[in-house]
This record gives sequence, structure tokens and C-alpha cells, in this order.
Amino acid sequence: MGKRRVLIMYATMTKNTEKIAQVYKETFEAYNWDVTYLRLKGNIDWKEMQKDLYFDDYDVICLGSPIVGGSPLQIVQKLFSFGGGGELEKSVQKKLDENKTGSEAAEAAVPPKGPIWRKNRAPYAGVLNKSDSWPLGIVFSTYGGGFYGSMEAVPTLEMLGHYLRSYNVNVVGKFCCGGKETGPAGIPNGVKPPKDFVPGKDISSLEPADVVDATVYEMADGTKMPGSYFFHYDLESKPGERELAKAKYFIQDFIEDYFMTYDGNPAVAISEIISIS
Ligand SMILES: Cc1cc2nc3c(=O)[nH]c(=O)nc-3n(C[C@H](O)[C@H](O)[C@H](O)COP(=O)(O)O)c2cc1C
Repeated sequence: MGKRRVLIMYATMTKNTEKIAQVYKETFEAYNWDVTYLRLKGNIDWKEMQKDLYFDDYDVICLGSPIVGGSPLQIVQKLFSFGGGGELEKSVQKKLDENKTGSEAAEAAVPPKGPIWRKNRAPYAGVLNKSDSWPLGIVFSTYGGGFYGSMEAVPTLEMLGHYLRSYNVNVVGKFCCGGKETGPAGIPNGVKPPKDFVPGKDISSLEPADVVDATVYEMADGTKMPGSYFFHYDLESKPGERELAKAKYFIQDFIEDYFMTYDGNPAVAISEIISIS
């Protein structure tokens, strides 16, 4: 049997999500998979890359992005949506403002420029291509979760899943973990947050919020650990050793359960594996 192939694509701003993507790469390689690894950025020469980007040539597609303002990064929206992220809406609205009819306005919807993910087009627009292969998919993210924790990750993971599904990828894996952030939730354990967060300003120079001092918890060995003012405990250290281990075990489970089957064929994929913390 030839080597299995995985395409790992991710976007990142401060490199937290890259750490997860890197662990994915190393883990697939340890199982002797052929890995194509790509950081999604604006300045990529897509024509040059195109030959490596057809989902038809892969067994697994992984797509990752941090959560920024509640959504995946813009580059991901641009590359995988059908014109989302502002352009489509703007061009149609412009026509409507010019008193054009709905169908004339819709004609203004210019397909996004960029990579082509599938070799064959559907016979007509607006449907999936029935003859496509169905690689398995994994979506992943890192996030602050300062507002309300792990549920904050769900919309972005679902959006990433939707992007892959719209190119006939069978998404069966979701992974998400905390990622140190530079925003309001990126304050060390036990440090009282400021009443008003001012980006770039040292917290000690700002008026602290009117909340009680952090409770201190004692471990069995006597270590004292101050409580967290935000959902993730010690977000500062994430993704650290523990999150990277989770990422590795997640991919190991995925490879073993879905691909190391008795007959060499992938498992029937009506299950999901999910690690969201
Ligand atoms: C401008 C900005 C906006 C952010 N918005 C959110 C958000 O809406 N929800 C969230 O959970 N985390 C948010 N975060 C935290 C990031 O998702 C987190 O730090 C992530 O690990 C960054 O990944 P990266 O290092 O791969 O860019 C935000 C971070 C930045 C810098």
C-alpha cells in the first residue's frame, strides 16, 4: 500500500495555532504519512502551489485558524468561502444601490481569486460535485475564550468545518485549546484585571477592576496556585506541554481509529472525535 497523504493548512497571527499544526505534522510523519504543510498567508503564489492543493489527491485535509473577533482569520474566509469576508456583499450591495434588479446584482458576485480545491467542477453552479472523492477532515483552532470559555470556540470550528464540507470533505475531527492572547484575557493568574483594558499599556499602570483578590489554592505538595479571573487557567502558558500532548494524542487516535483497520480501508466515518478545552 502506498503512503497515505495529508494536507495540513493553517493560518496564524502570533504562532500559537502553528504549534498545533507542527505537532500534527510530526505525528502524521511518525505514522509514515506523506505530509503537505502550508501556512495560509496573503502573499502565496497560488499558481505555483496549485498542483499540491487538490483535495482529490489526499486522504485527509486539516484546516486550522485562531479565533479573532469570534471568527476564523480573514485569509481563511477569503480562500474557502464563496466570496465571503465582505467582497461579495459589497459588490452586490453596490448594484442594488444603483437600483439594479436582484439578478443583475447577483451577477456582480465575482468568484474569489485564489487556489482551486477540487479537480472537477460540478456540472452546474450551486451544488456539490457528486463524483468527488471524500477525504476525511480535521478542523482545529487556538483561542482565548475569555468571555465564556470553550463554547466560544464552537462557531469558528463549525465555520472551518463548513468550509471543508463545501468541498466534499467529510469532517470527523475537531480540536481546540487555549492560546496565549495579547487581549484582555491574556492577564496572568492571580493578577487583578484592569477596569478598562488598554491595548499595549502595562496593567500595573491601570486602575484595577473592583473585584475581590484571587483565591489561592494549595496543592497536595504545598504549591500555592492563585485563582484565574478568566475561563482558561494560566492562559499565558498555552499552548504548552499539556496542549501539545493533547494535539499529539488526538492525531494518534484519529490515525489509528480511522486508518489502521484490518483491511487497509478507512473506517466508515459516521463518528466524530472531538477535543475542545
Ligand atoms: C485581535 C485579537 C482578537 C481576538 N479575538 C478573540 C475572540 O474573539 N475569541 C477568543 O476566544 N480569542 C480571541 N483572541 C485570542 C486568540 O484566538 C488566541 O490568542 C490564539 O491562540 C491566537 O492564535 P495565533 O497565535 O495562531 O494567532 C484574539 C486575539 C487577538 C490578537
